[in-house]
Amino acid sequence: MKVIRLAGPLLDRVYNTYLLMHTHQTVDFVRKKGAEYGACAQRQMSIMEALDLLDNVVDESDPDVDFPNSYHAYQTAEGIRQAHPDKDWFQLVGLLHDMGKILALAGEPQVNSRGGSVCSSRMHSWAVVGDTFPVGCRVQESVVFSDSTFHDNPDTKNPLYNSQYGIYQPHSGLANVLMSWGHDEYMYKVMKFNNFALPQEAFYMIRFHSFYPWHTGGDYMHLCSNEDLRMLAWVKEFNKFDLYTKCKDLPDVTQLKPYYQSLIDKYCPGQLYW
Ligand SMILES: [Fe+2]
Ligand SMILES: [Fe+2]
Repeated sequence: MKVIRLAGPLLDRVYNTYLLMHTHQTVDFVRKKGAEYGACAQRQMSIMEALDLLDNVVDESDPDVDFPNSYHAYQTAEGIRQAHPDKDWFQLVGLLHDMGKILALAGEPQVNSRGGSVCSSRMHSWAVVGDTFPVGCRVQESVVFSDSTFHDNPDTKNPLYNSQYGIYQPHSGLANVLMSWGHDEYMYKVMKFNNFALPQEAFYMIRFHSFYPWHTGGDYMHLCSNEDLRMLAWVKEFNKFDLYTKCKDLPDVTQLKPYYQSLIDKYCPGQLYW
């Protein structure tokens, strides 16, 4: 997880998000959401339209951000641009990486910690934000709050899913792993569906940027292929900018927009399917 020193109501809020996530993210749930959203049949819009939408989303799992999400997108992109002026595709990843959070605006009923329904028009935040982890195999130690939040997850009692490898083969690769459902996986599916002309590194950074138990915790290596290990360096490089460019000095978006529009026109132009 991004922040280790939390206390009081903030800790409660973050903990509750993870308790719900670790109770309800199962193999069945992930397959269902993947099928539902992987078809990208929700709506059509451009990247800039999606970026505007993102400003309506608050990330309950992230104690660092209390300003509109699009600023975080520009801050991350600008941080990358300073450090990697020659890699425009990488800069665009900064802008795109959290765009999947528009999932939170998809109308879905919420579930409380005892499994009951709570009236809401929004997608539950535990299926949008927060650190991700593989389902279908035993949870590893570096998954945040793993010792106290999985007891009601039915997969932990299923012998098919609760062994070291679960439904996977040794080193069969993260491409074959079902990750908990959230904004990483959704945006990855949008990128694939719309054939974004970005290098493979970009797809990895977006798909696994919230997989902290892997890129920061060092767990789940028993599932990784050599290709995953090669890509890990890129995911880590991206993570620096995701984490350390958050600041109250908000970027001048009007001034930056034309540059990023040119990158969008190059790699993922026009009306896209979401
Ligand atoms: Fe994210
Ligand atoms: Fe982010």
